[in-house]
Amino acid sequence: MKFAKYQPTVTPDLPDRQWPNQRLVKAPLWVSVDLRDGNQALANPMTVEQKLKLWHELVKMGFKTIEVGFPSASQVEFDFTRRLIEENLIPEDVTIQVLVQAREHLIKRTYEALQGVKQAVVHVYNTTSIVQRERVFEKSKAEIKAMAEQGALWVKNYAQAAQQQSPVSQFIFQYSPESFSQTETAYAVEVCEAVMDVWLPTPENPCILNLPATVESTSPNRFADQVEYFIRHLPNRASALISIHTHNDRGCAVAAAELALLAGADRIEGTLLGNGERTGNMDIVTLAMNLYSEGIDPELNLSNPDEWMAVVEEVTQIKTHMRHPWVGEVVYTAYSGSHQDAIRKCLLKQQADEPWQVAYLPIDPKDVGRDYEAVIRVNSQSGKAGAAFVLEQEYGLKLPKWLQIDFAPVAQALAEKQGGVISHKNLYQAFLIHYALTEKKPNISNYQIGKAGEMETIRLDYEQQILEGRGKGTLCALCDAWQNSTGQVVDVLDYAEHAMHEAMDVGKNARAMAYVLLDVDGQKKIGLAMAEDTVSAMLLAVLKGLN
Ligand code: KIV
Ligand code: ZN
Repeated sequence: MKFAKYQPTVTPDLPDRQWPNQRLVKAPLWVSVDLRDGNQALANPMTVEQKLKLWHELVKMGFKTIEVGFPSASQVEFDFTRRLIEENLIPEDVTIQVLVQAREHLIKRTYEALQGVKQAVVHVYNTTSIVQRERVFEKSKAEIKAMAEQGALWVKNYAQAAQQQSPVSQFIFQYSPESFSQTETAYAVEVCEAVMDVWLPTPENPCILNLPATVESTSPNRFADQVEYFIRHLPNRASALISIHTHNDRGCAVAAAELALLAGADRIEGTLLGNGERTGNMDIVTLAMNLYSEGIDPELNLSNPDEWMAVVEEVTQIKTHMRHPWVGEVVYTAYSGSHQDAIRKCLLKQQADEPWQVAYLPIDPKDVGRDYEAVIRVNSQSGKAGAAFVLEQEYGLKLPKWLQIDFAPVAQALAEKQGGVISHKNLYQAFLIHYALTEKKPNISNYQIGKAGEMETIRLDYEQQILEGRGKGTLCALCDAWQNSTGQVVDVLDYAEHAMHEAMDVGKNARAMAYVLLDVDGQKKIGLAMAEDTVSAMLLAVLKGLN
């Protein structure tokens, strides 16, 4: 690997950096750039209808600023902007944003697209990075700065003209020094200051300075240094909202945005699920859910991923990875036995009114529309806990520990045979069959239980014989009766029972479930039964075990 070919990005020296001491305490102002940056990165860009579909979803999720496109770049982008305005599809509290290069004819066309809009952010950019200045534009720092100033002037002048035509229109100005993270930070400050000198924003009427990591080229801590340096050196900082726009080339776009917020940024631009150029834009879902999982209101409604993910997948034609943070199909699923065991124990202890404390589940899957069915999946790696959890959660069966151990290899063998995950239904069927719960036999049509002082007596019709015995409690009396009839010595090692709300598949009227572990002439035997009442369930469980 030819690593010597590359050099580290130059970032400012900031020994007194403050951002590491800060904490995230509130959501930033969110800006969705799905319809622009996200769309720009698609092999098949969205049609107007597809854009409209995503627009409605973004509004529903609570975005208050949405970059709707680059109207001067294509007819679809222009038409979509017009459609939103002409059909009055922009709610009062939502502001559209449009992107444009610092070129006059494009800026003019952009305002044509915006005619009649109530409020819009006009986002102008030119690139400021070293490589772009030297190798693409072949321009000096002064020339690049002049391009930014000129662009800012056109944006301001055409806004005035547009307002004269349509006095209802309000414009907010935004400038991006494109490739900010690969620009000398002091120079980025200089360019942005020049832009502000044209726009003359005030704290009451601020402009927006958007700092893009157009290509992510350094680690999040050094990007945070760049942002903190920029903010600390920007004259008239109070008159600018600082916005961050990170891309994900190093896989750290979310981390970089988080640290940039610590460094003082106010606003974040990104896309749902991180769609965007190359490795994508900063994923708003991940950042918002990161905040949520620490008890911070994300100020976006992400609670219905099935709905909004379907729209995103449809319009982008990109399938969400099954392990995508927070919303991937299996991100709340445990396959390993020890994880399943820990989750089961925590879920059983978790109270509705206390903070979430469940091992391996950073949030309650129900908050993002996932039910617990998806949480534990039984496969060949699952231990006893997975099967027990499913049987309890789905079928109300509370297996004693010894039964969990006894059933685990049955579940494992089934998983190996089927190759993959066992459905809950198949697992339950295997359980019923393995413990003969679907069998009608033995039949105990008639029994009497009585008391004789401390002892209980039992008389029961069983397979055309009469069994009779006595003991301390019904269980012992039945074992005694069995011993009297067969000569086998029976000991009850453990017994458990519970009520059932409804009997699944077997014995429609069954209301009780009993589990017994017996020692019969030194051999362990297990008996399980469902019946209408607990006594019948107990007697049947013992007789099944003896059989
Ligand atoms: O990534 C980028 O730099 C952009 C700008 C145009 C803001 O998308
Ligand atoms: Zn971008």
